[in-house]
Amino acid sequence: MSKTIKKIGVLTSGGDAPGMNAAIRSVVRTCAYHNIECVGVYRGYEGLMEGDFKEMNARSVKDIINRGGTILKSARSMAFRTKEGRVLAHSQLKQADIDALVLIGGDGTFTGGMIFNQEFGYPVIGIPGTIDNDIYGTSHTLGFDTALNTVVDAIDKIRDTASSHNRLFFIEVMGRDVGHIALNVGVGAGAEEILIPEEDLGLDRLVESLRRSRQSGKSSSIVIVAEGDKIGKSVFELKDYVDENMEGYDVRVSVLGHMQRGGSPSCFDRVLASRMGVKAVESLMAGKTNYMVGLINNEMELTPLESAIKGKSKINLELLRVSEIMAT
Ligand code: F6P
Repeated sequence: MSKTIKKIGVLTSGGDAPGMNAAIRSVVRTCAYHNIECVGVYRGYEGLMEGDFKEMNARSVKDIINRGGTILKSARSMAFRTKEGRVLAHSQLKQADIDALVLIGGDGTFTGGMIFNQEFGYPVIGIPGTIDNDIYGTSHTLGFDTALNTVVDAIDKIRDTASSHNRLFFIEVMGRDVGHIALNVGVGAGAEEILIPEEDLGLDRLVESLRRSRQSGKSSSIVIVAEGDKIGKSVFELKDYVDENMEGYDVRVSVLGHMQRGGSPSCFDRVLASRMGVKAVESLMAGKTNYMVGLINNEMELTPLESAIKGKSKINLELLRVSEIMAT
């Protein structure tokens, strides 16, 4: 292993996700294990440009494996998108003698890191942290599994009231550009229909499907709608549409929102975060840079940051068919 890395910085950037703290803990403790100094960078790239750093040791990360959010805080930085911002960040790193960075975040975080690496030859490794699971090069991003469990729990509760009042619920879940959360919770919580950005169900088919389920004797229904679904109508517009065009439906809407990003990480996310942190630090020690660590076939693998950003995460459309059969 290369001896050149003596001090590593770690930051979280973009939307927070459960498991980020467990990943910070893993990075800090792997550094301690290998006698490498570790520095926490506050508020992502914003704190990087300001030199908002804090020395961390193994004890600084006690009692955080179970906590949602990120103790280092997060931000979406516009200034780091400018050359001046990145020059400033680089000078702060040099001044603090930080040799490499571990970046925990999503594609925006990785794009910034990749450009920074290209401009300054500065060593960076990414850890994918976002509930959306929209990153190529890993079957799971940190926070995805926890979010699925949080959302299924919320839908189960909504089901109680849907069933008691014979109602149709449109439930909006997160996933700006992808339907991973919607697809999985749709199957896991037994939805009637799932609307995702990757497939246009079409209003006619939705209406048809609701009628069919009524005819088959169902008195309540749940339709999961991903934020960025293709049908082109918001959950509120869908409600209006059913109110205006279909008789006998008592429709309600529930937008789950940011509660999906919070909460204590699942065991799966804690284990994943711990593995990713070890792999990230040891990859930097081995001289690897400009990669993202990811879970592929249950192994920790490296994918170039550029592919992680440009590649498309694979969505399991088979789940749509499973959902259709289960909705019989
Ligand atoms: O974390 C990803 C995500 O949850 C998206 O699904 C969503 O569109 C977005 O973040 C909203 O984030 P914010 O409110 O922080 O802009």
